Parts: sequence; structure tokens; C-alpha cells
Amino acid sequence: MIFATSPESVHVRAPGKINVFLGVGERHEDGYHALATVFQAVSLYEDVIARHADDFSITVSGVDDADAVPLDDRNLAMRAAKLLATAAEYRGGVALEIRKNVPVAGGMGGGSADAAAALVACDALWGTGFSLARLHELAARLGADVPFALHGGTAVGTGRGDQLNPALARGRFDWVLVTSDEGLSTPVVYGRLDALRDEEGALADDPPLSLEVPIPVLQALRSGDPHQLAETLFNDLQAAAVYERPDLADTIRLGVRAGALHGIVSGSGPTVALLCAGPEIAQEVQSILRESGLDPLHVHGPVPGARIIS
Ligand code: C5P
Repeated sequence: MIFATSPESVHVRAPGKINVFLGVGERHEDGYHALATVFQAVSLYEDVIARHADDFSITVSGVDDADAVPLDDRNLAMRAAKLLATAAEYRGGVALEIRKNVPVAGGMGGGSADAAAALVACDALWGTGFSLARLHELAARLGADVPFALHGGTAVGTGRGDQLNPALARGRFDWVLVTSDEGLSTPVVYGRLDALRDEEGALADDPPLSLEVPIPVLQALRSGDPHQLAETLFNDLQAAAVYERPDLADTIRLGVRAGALHGIVSGSGPTVALLCAGPEIAQEVQSILRESGLDPLHVHGPVPGARIIS
């Protein structure tokens, strides 16, 4: 394979996400659950800078607890770089610098954003020249949320969440995110959902859950009306996340009392996403929650997926 002359470094920015709707079906033999979800990329970004190196290494900044992010093959960005190198038969390595803003283990796909950014950055650094479709295929092998971080915007995800179809969303939606110091493990939350469903016998005799994104969710996104979207926000993982972290229910209540239209746990949590009627109200909600000792962030969506900055 011939590689074009390449830059010294490539800086890519990829967004975190909120699941505006998350329906979880049955668990398959591979351990993954069938999903019907709507992702929205929001203005909270991971920055990944890739530089030429003989081998593969990662440095991370922007995290309080340095031990929270592995720097070896457990890191999804490292796996992304190595997967691309193998697919492109590239013989060198890369030094990845990751500047984190998306909370670690927060249910916002921060690790997936790192992986998507690493794919795009290494592709440009090494002059691999893979198509977006080829990068998508590699992204899906890395994790269920990685393809969405590549594409961004608003999209319906099916399968494990990795089969994407763009959804029309008009205008901008304002969210206040309440992050937690301590993360929640995604497999633990999915496992808790299975246990809760087993207890209820919910899936025992019932026909398989109908796994589709309800039309009102898509209509609300198309309308651009946050009031409409607020009525359709839903997350099947919420009960399981709240079981693990009962305080999340209090945070949602507090947010709504402060002026948000509605709130949900984002993905597998523990980040709580509060939808607001507009930017001014979101700022108000943010300052009220801050006074209550929480750590709220005002973001908006949809925003684009992984993009080269320089
Ligand atoms: O794909 P990702 O690495 O983000 O998934 C982490 C874990 O979350 C999986 O190992 C699985 O336990 C759970 N998961 C699931 N069903 C999905 C996505 C994730 O059970 N569709």
C-alpha cells in the first residue's frame, strides 16, 4: 500500500452523546442486548492528537483520577489505532494525546468518542485514506457506540446500537448535564436490568419486546420543539441505573423543580440529562443546581461527529 505524505500531527475532536430514547430488548448469546435508540451528539468534546511514533502509546489529561483511564490495550482509542494499523497494514505506531471533557464511565460515550477520534486521526496521520464506510465498519468492531461518535448529529441506532440511520432534527436542543464524580459500569447496569426483568418475570412469557423507536420521538426531533421532545424522553436502563445509584432520581427531580422540562439518565448513567426550553432557562437551571452543590454543564445538540481540527 502506498501512503501519501503525511502531516506531523493531527488533531481530531469528537462529541459525547445523550440517548434521547433508549429501548433495550433481549440479551443475545454474545452478551449484547438488542437496542432501539436515538443518539444525539452534544457540545461536550474529546480532543485526540495523534503524532508519529514507532510504537503505540497514550497520554491522558482532563481527568481527576488518572487511574480511571487505562493507557494500555484496555483503552478503546489504543485498540482503535491498532485495529486501523492492522487493517491498513501500517507498520509504524502512534502517540495519542487524549484531552478529556466527557465524564469517564458517565454514560455519554466518552471512550467511544476517543476511539472514533483515534480512527479519524490515525487515518489522516498515516495517509491511510479509508472511506467513512470502512471506518464505520472498524468502529462497529470496537464498541456499540463508536460508529455514532464518528457520525454525530442525531441518529437512530439499532442492532447493538451500531446500525445507524440519520434522524432529522431541526434547530437546537439545550441540555443541562449533571455529572457524577463516580462512574457506573455499563455491563453492571445492563446486568442489573436483566436481574430486575428476571425478578419481574417481565420477559418470561411475553412475546419479544417490540424494539422500535416510537414515531412521536422522531416527530418531536423533527419539530425542533423541546416541549414535544420532553414528553417522549425515555430510557429502559434508567431503573437499573437508579437501582445502583438512587440519588440519580433526586437529581432529576431537582432539575425539573429548577425549571427543566424533563430529565433522564443518559445511557447507562450516571450522567443525568435535563432538557430545557432554551439557552436562558438552561443557564438558570445550571446555576440553581450549582448552588445545590451539583456539577452541572450546559450543552447543546445536535453537533457533528469526529472532525479534524488541524
Ligand atoms: O460496546 P460497549 O463496549 O460500549 O459495551 C459495553 C458493555 O455493555 C457490553 O460488554 C455489554 O455488557 C453491555 N452492552 C449490552 N448491549 C448493548 C451495548 C452494550 O449489553 N447493546
